[in-house]
Amino acid sequence: GCGARSEQPAADNGGEGDKAAKQEKIVIKFSHVVAENTPKGQAAVMFEEKAEEYTDGKVDVQVFPNSQLYNDNDVLSAIQQNNVQMAAPATSKVSKLFPEWTIFDFPFAFPSTEKVQEAMESPEIGGKLFNMLKDKQLLGLAMWDNGFKQMSLDDQPLYMPKDFEGKSFRVMSSEVLEAQFKALNANPTPMPFSEVYSALEQGVIDGQENTLSNIYSKKFHEVQKYMTLSNHGYLGYAVITNSEFWEGLPEDVRAGLEKALDETTQWVRDNGERINGEALDKIKADGTLEEIHELTPDEKKAWMEATDKVYDDFEDIVGSDLIEAVKALRD
Ligand code: LMR
Repeated sequence: GCGARSEQPAADNGGEGDKAAKQEKIVIKFSHVVAENTPKGQAAVMFEEKAEEYTDGKVDVQVFPNSQLYNDNDVLSAIQQNNVQMAAPATSKVSKLFPEWTIFDFPFAFPSTEKVQEAMESPEIGGKLFNMLKDKQLLGLAMWDNGFKQMSLDDQPLYMPKDFEGKSFRVMSSEVLEAQFKALNANPTPMPFSEVYSALEQGVIDGQENTLSNIYSKKFHEVQKYMTLSNHGYLGYAVITNSEFWEGLPEDVRAGLEKALDETTQWVRDNGERINGEALDKIKADGTLEEIHELTPDEKKAWMEATDKVYDDFEDIVGSDLIEAVKALRD
């Protein structure tokens, strides 16, 4: 549970009095940046409950949502230093330490979350990406989906690539996301998630891209006028821990945590789309947007053509093997 509890009274052990009166719980701080009514927010709480149950209360998971503890740009080093034990940063942000992870940012790379899961399960993609984390004291435990990103803007609809011209868009810290907007002749502005609402409100940026659950839960639709349902990019999370911490856990505790994690991951897979769909209904019901446009096939083709150069430009960084493996899944 969240809060100050980190010790529990030992069970009455019937006279074996020299046992310690109190047994320390293993504390797992889980830091993330989104609201609780999102796929990741709900998954973190579910993991907390299951983890505590399956470890017979030996573990106290403390979830810190809404960037309370760390923001996007410092959570990975916080894990490396074991100041927090778990986090689930967007894969885009993992690319700061491991550039290959930016593969998930490529425009229109994945037609469905099932394809992302397929990619993560393949040794050439997921195996390779998870493996490299070990070089920096990190261990990848799971991949949690959010879903696909949509575009919003403050003053005009986004139909064709020309509509992006000269507009500034917030991006997560990822070079591919910057390149995507540059390819559309727009100005990308990297910024932590916690700052997006006020930047939109104050007109520091004109637009943004995110999933419907993130847009709704942080009220971006109240400070934007136009949204295009484009599903142009994937947003998902690498559930990460400190490798030394994890390997140092008692075996039974680790097994309980793994069971909790497996069940939670399955839940996210089964519910991410539903949660984003409900967010869309609520955005519509709020009525704050002038227009919600669904990208037509012709418009999609134009967006794809305009952003396709990103694949070539990042071939050296990501590696052609990885790009080819992802393209092969898509076709
Ligand atoms: C963002 O910064 O837009 C996302 O990474 C937030 C999140 O974690 O879903």
